[in-house]
Amino acid sequence: MKVRKAVIPAAGLGTRMLPATKTVPKEMLPLVDKPVIQYVVEEAAAAGIEDILIVTNRAKSAMDDYFDYHPELEERLLRSGKEQEAATIRRCADLCNIFYVRQKETKGLGHAVWRARNFVGKEPFAVLLGDDVMKSKTPVLAQLISASEKYGCSCVGTQQVEDSQISKYSSLKLSPLDGRIYTVHDMNEKPGPGEKFSNFAILGRYVLTSSIFDILERTPPGHGGEIQLTDALKELCRKERMVAVEFEGRRYDTGNLKGFLEATIDFALENEESGPWLRQFILDKAAELAYNCRS
Ligand code: G1P
Repeated sequence: MKVRKAVIPAAGLGTRMLPATKTVPKEMLPLVDKPVIQYVVEEAAAAGIEDILIVTNRAKSAMDDYFDYHPELEERLLRSGKEQEAATIRRCADLCNIFYVRQKETKGLGHAVWRARNFVGKEPFAVLLGDDVMKSKTPVLAQLISASEKYGCSCVGTQQVEDSQISKYSSLKLSPLDGRIYTVHDMNEKPGPGEKFSNFAILGRYVLTSSIFDILERTPPGHGGEIQLTDALKELCRKERMVAVEFEGRRYDTGNLKGFLEATIDFALENEESGPWLRQFILDKAAELAYNCRS
């Protein structure tokens, strides 16, 4: 099953990053020199996705503008000999074919994905959560696509999280299939004490068959009064085969300050321009902190 289309739900209100996200969408906050959403779009493009639908809301038109051409700015840059900068901003707009749909009401992740039904049609498709950024050798989505192609079924991306963290995620009931690939039997969204299936959490990447839309159509509100993708996936994995890939790479939840800062530091250390001086800055800072602790 060839996966050509991806959906990026990016309609959340960004309440964990206020006041920064009062007027700037959380997906547009810069991680070093690019907005968060660009990392997600680049991962999809690197995994062979051709068409992307971003599910937005009325406060997020900065995203549409970002992936558009900006002729005046390009012309100005070219006139002042900044060819590289002009090429960089042009490249953002040419990463993929990007489409937009609004989630007119904030009714949860399941409802946001359901908004993509006309865009997707009957094909298998990928879902990449707009604030989950990955750092990996092989794009995380490509790892999921190859498992879903191998087994001809839906696939979710997973990693084990700490006991104290599983209540933030969808917890999976799995059995081993082949190496890092597992069969999915069940799952529950944000399990309370004593409710988790395991510490394997779904972390922001999915490849789904279009059967999910019929299920989402009649999925009632669940955790937090919202239509949960997990509740629909729970039904999908009973009806059809579903696998989970324990992906290689590091995931950052950039929708909260801790994940955002960790991603900023890791990406800045990797960046050609900022890497060398930041490394030195961190070493100096660490020495200063150690000195202050001793004295
Ligand atoms: C969402 C999903 C959850 C998933 C998590 C991490 O939760 O509902 O199942 O485990 O993303 O990708 P949220 O972060 O929106 O609370």
